[in-house]
Amino acid sequence: MPKRAKVSIVGAGTVGTTAAHWIASRELADVVLVDIIEGLPQGKALDIMQAGPIAGFDVRVTGSNDYAATAGSDVVVITAGIARKPGMTREQLIDTNAGIMRSVVGPVVQHSPGATLVVVTNPLDAMTYLTVKAAGLSRARVIGESGALDSTRFRTFLAMELAVSVNDVHALVVGAHTDKDMVPLPRYATVRGIPVSHFLSAAQIEAVVARTRRGGAEITELMKASAFTAPGASICEMVEAILRDQKRVIPCCVYLDGEYGERDVCVGVPVVLGAGGMERIIELPLDSSEKAAFKASVGAIREMLGAMKA
Ligand SMILES: NC(=O)c1ccc[n+]([C@@H]2O[C@H](COP(=O)([O-])OP(=O)(O)OC[C@H]3O[C@@H](n4cnc5c(N)ncnc54)[C@H](O)[C@@H]3O)[C@@H](O)[C@H]2O)c1
Repeated sequence: MPKRAKVSIVGAGTVGTTAAHWIASRELADVVLVDIIEGLPQGKALDIMQAGPIAGFDVRVTGSNDYAATAGSDVVVITAGIARKPGMTREQLIDTNAGIMRSVVGPVVQHSPGATLVVVTNPLDAMTYLTVKAAGLSRARVIGESGALDSTRFRTFLAMELAVSVNDVHALVVGAHTDKDMVPLPRYATVRGIPVSHFLSAAQIEAVVARTRRGGAEITELMKASAFTAPGASICEMVEAILRDQKRVIPCCVYLDGEYGERDVCVGVPVVLGAGGMERIIELPLDSSEKAAFKASVGAIREMLGAMKA
C-alpha cells in the first residue's frame, strides 16, 4: 500500500484554511495546519474534519502550534503573514512578512527536509526568493503560487466576456504577482484552441486584462478583506499536480537561472509541475511588447528585493 501523502500548511488564516478544505475535500493528503495563535489551527482542523461525514471525504486534518507535527511532509504550503487591507498593495506587506518568513522556513525544512515548498505569502515574488535562499533546497522544490491564481482570474473574466464555458477557455499570466506588473498574455489565450482575438476586439481584450490585474484588489475593495476561495483552490491545484505527479502546465513563481534572459530572481513563468516539484520551465516565445512587459516586471521585483531589509 502506498503511504498516505502529508501536506502541512503554515498559517491557519483564511487562505491556509481554505486550501486545507480544498485539499481534504479532494482526499489528496492528510493535512496539518500550523499557526502561532494557540487553538486556532486545532479548531479550524476539527471544523474541516467534521464536514467529512457529510461531504464524503476521509482524511486526517489536525492543527498544531508546534512544527514537530509537520515532520515528514511531502508538501509544505506557507501562508503565514499579514494580508492586505483595502487600498493597500501587496508590496506594502514586505518587511512584516519577510520577518515572519525568515522565522518559518528554518523549522519547516528541519522537520521535512524532503518536502516541496509552496510559498503563498505576499509580496509573493520576494517571499519566494527569500525562501529559495533560506531553505537551501534545489530551486525545483521552492515554488511560489501566483500564476495559478492570476490565470484562473484571467480565464474567468474571459469566459464571462465571451459567454462560453470557463472549461473551454485557456489563458496564462506570467511576471510579477502585483497589480501593476503582472503580465497577462492574451496572445496565448484561446477558446478550445481558437485565439480569443477571433471573438473579442482589442478594446474588449484590454478591458479583461485590466480587470485581471485588479482581480485581487476588486475583491478586497468589495469585502474589505483579502480573497481566499480562489487562492485556496489555486494552492490545491499545485499541490495535486505535485502529489499526483500530473505534469500540469501552470504558471508559477520560480527561481530563474538564465531562462528568459534573467538570473537570480524569482518570477512567474509557465512550468511543468510534478512529483519532482518544478520539473521544467517552459520558455515561451514573447513578442517585443510582451518581452518589454516581462522585463519591466522583473525590474519591479528586483527593486522590491533591493528594498527588503536584510
Ligand atoms: N500568492 C497568492 O496568490 C495569495 C493569495 C491570497 C493571499 N495571499 C497572501 O497570503 C497570506 C495569508 O493571507 P490570509 O488572508 O490567509 O491572512 P490571515 O491573516 O487570514 O492569515 C495569516 C495567518 O498567519 C498566521 N501567522 C502569522 N505569523 C505566523 C508565524 N510566524 N507562524 C505561523 N503562522 C503565523 C496568523 O496568525 C494568521 O492566522 C498574506 O500574505 C496574503 O497576502 C497570497
